[in-house]
Amino acid sequence: MAACLDELIGAQPDSAIRDGMAYATRGGKRLRGVLVLETARLHGVGPERAVYAAAAIECLHAYSLVHDDLPAMDDDDLRRGQPTVHIKWDEASAILVGDALQTLAFEALSDPRLTDDPAIALTLTRSLAQASGAAGMVLGQALDIAAETAATPLTLDQITALQAGKTGALIRWSAEAGAVLGGGDPAPLRHYAERIGLAFQIADDILDVTGDAEKAGKRLQKDAEAGKATFVSLLGLEGARARARDLVAEAEAALEPYGEQAETLCDLARFVIARDT
Ligand code: IPE
Ligand code: IPE
Ligand code: MG
Ligand code: MG
Ligand code: MG
Repeated sequence: MAACLDELIGAQPDSAIRDGMAYATRGGKRLRGVLVLETARLHGVGPERAVYAAAAIECLHAYSLVHDDLPAMDDDDLRRGQPTVHIKWDEASAILVGDALQTLAFEALSDPRLTDDPAIALTLTRSLAQASGAAGMVLGQALDIAAETAATPLTLDQITALQAGKTGALIRWSAEAGAVLGGGDPAPLRHYAERIGLAFQIADDILDVTGDAEKAGKRLQKDAEAGKATFVSLLGLEGARARARDLVAEAEAALEPYGEQAETLCDLARFVIARDT
């Protein structure tokens, strides 16, 4: 995945924007890209093809982080243990680096090496656009920002809906991508992804309260500072942990049709809530 990202970004003309793109895609857990590779493997599609979809989702995710960290959004100066793009360069560059990473994601998905079947490429392109835009990640981010100034804190149902966009949509796309690439039924992976997506956000909220900023590589305690309702503020720490554990058990159950073949995806589900970064 790293080599593919290097190749895609390295093919851009030499510029500060290209440098920022390489910088912003470095590091991270690569959860979304790994989900693509692993679900593709389950559906008989090798990494030499699936890696273009894995790189696409990691570019899209990196763009969402670069913009999330901007002063007009979360105003963060640290990401993946390094200064954020607008600190290292400037705000205009960070906006453009994000824009260019977003379009590079779609360039990667239209790479002829991903699939011989144009219908599959089109399905993946359209579904990534939907997962990313005003019905997906962007919607979730907008609801998240609005919640900071809302007169009353969000309810659990509202936070769950917000999460489905903010983090859920890209995680779901990543898990379904393997089935789409292999021409299989994406339903079991959708059930799995909906649960690990929610568990992932609960873990992010828990990490914000209890995590070690050094390990996490980003500023923590931001949610309480911003007066945000989160899964932790609504369920309490123990309640949030219990909910996350239940979701992981449900996610593992959703993988039953794959039998032992799905062991790595089960490990990933457990990692999502056990992580400290
Ligand atoms: C962080 O995502 C932001 C959210 C979507 C909650 P990750 O925790 O997956 O970040 P990286 O890619 O590992 O840095
Ligand atoms: C970021 O959510 C989600 C997206 C970038 C889509 P957060 O704002 O909670 O993520 P962190 O905590 O900064 O990583
Ligand atoms: Mg944010
Ligand atoms: Mg943030
Ligand atoms: Mg967070």
